[in-house]
Amino acid sequence: MRIGIIGAGNMSEAMMAAWLRNQVVKPDEIMLADVREDRLTDLRQRYGVGVTTRNHEAVPSTDVLMLGVKPQQLAEMLDALQVAVAPRCLVLSIAAGKRLEWLEERLPAARLVRVMPNIACRTGVAMSAYCAGTRATVADRSTARMLLEKFGRAMEVPETLMDAVTAVSGSGPAFFARMIQAMVSAAAAEGLTPDQAQVLAAQTMQGTASLLLDGAMSPRELIDAVSSARGVTMAGLQVMDRRRFDEIVGELLTVSIQRSRELAEG
Ligand SMILES: NC(=O)c1ccc[n+]([C@@H]2O[C@H](COP(=O)([O-])OP(=O)(O)OC[C@H]3O[C@@H](n4cnc5c(N)ncnc54)[C@H](OP(=O)(O)O)[C@@H]3O)[C@@H](O)[C@H]2O)c1
Repeated sequence: MRIGIIGAGNMSEAMMAAWLRNQVVKPDEIMLADVREDRLTDLRQRYGVGVTTRNHEAVPSTDVLMLGVKPQQLAEMLDALQVAVAPRCLVLSIAAGKRLEWLEERLPAARLVRVMPNIACRTGVAMSAYCAGTRATVADRSTARMLLEKFGRAMEVPETLMDAVTAVSGSGPAFFARMIQAMVSAAAAEGLTPDQAQVLAAQTMQGTASLLLDGAMSPRELIDAVSSARGVTMAGLQVMDRRRFDEIVGELLTVSIQRSRELAEG
């Protein structure tokens, strides 16, 4: 499989590294295009992949073309692309908020899949959601899923849910990290070093996630299993209730989803 990538930033590197690590592609089957020459030189040296500052050189003869520039850079980049993207090529867009209709208008022949990955693709435990465009085939959906599962879990959703997905799993790592940051600060007052507190909190978050993901417990069952009447956990949970934790989380999701919609509408 040959993969062309336009926009060789943080996400593109993490995704490409996973594909190389998992031998989905060999280095000489990847062509990276970016405006930053220093960045390309660095990536070529570290991964042995092909690089170019001319975006159109990443397009011909690729089986999959990934659009990895920022959403606000995408229109200009596509307008300036000097070659048509052939129908034989599957295009993956990871640009937050850019809808399939918008993409299909600008790439009239391309088969498109829109993807919302998250930053954990760096460590192979990402959550990615995707939705397919009108020209995408069943095989395209399978190819997209296979590529996404090389760095974590993948879930196909209707495009109408992509703003909610963006808030929950795209921005989610920042929300969970904010919780850990608060725990680390509070634990410092009790004598734990930031390193100790971070390991305690992050490993606990990972353990919680593994219990929920293996399907053995729902969040409610997990909470009940850890807390007992008048116990330590219950004392903390009562603070969450009193300070209306659910309302804070509800509001942060509503506001994030709204922002994602605003960005999509330009
Ligand atoms: N970061 C996340 O957690 C996350 C999560 C989900 C989805 N995404 C999506 O992933 C995409 C990439 O995000 P990122 O954080 O990886 O961004 P990034 O690190 O800024 O990477 C984008 C790269 O594209 C380059 N570029 C800009 N204009 C270009 C052009 N016309 N042609 C070729 N290259 C160009 C940029 O160069 P300059 O720096 O010089 O502009 C930069 O090297 C975004 O669309 C974002 O919505 C990100």
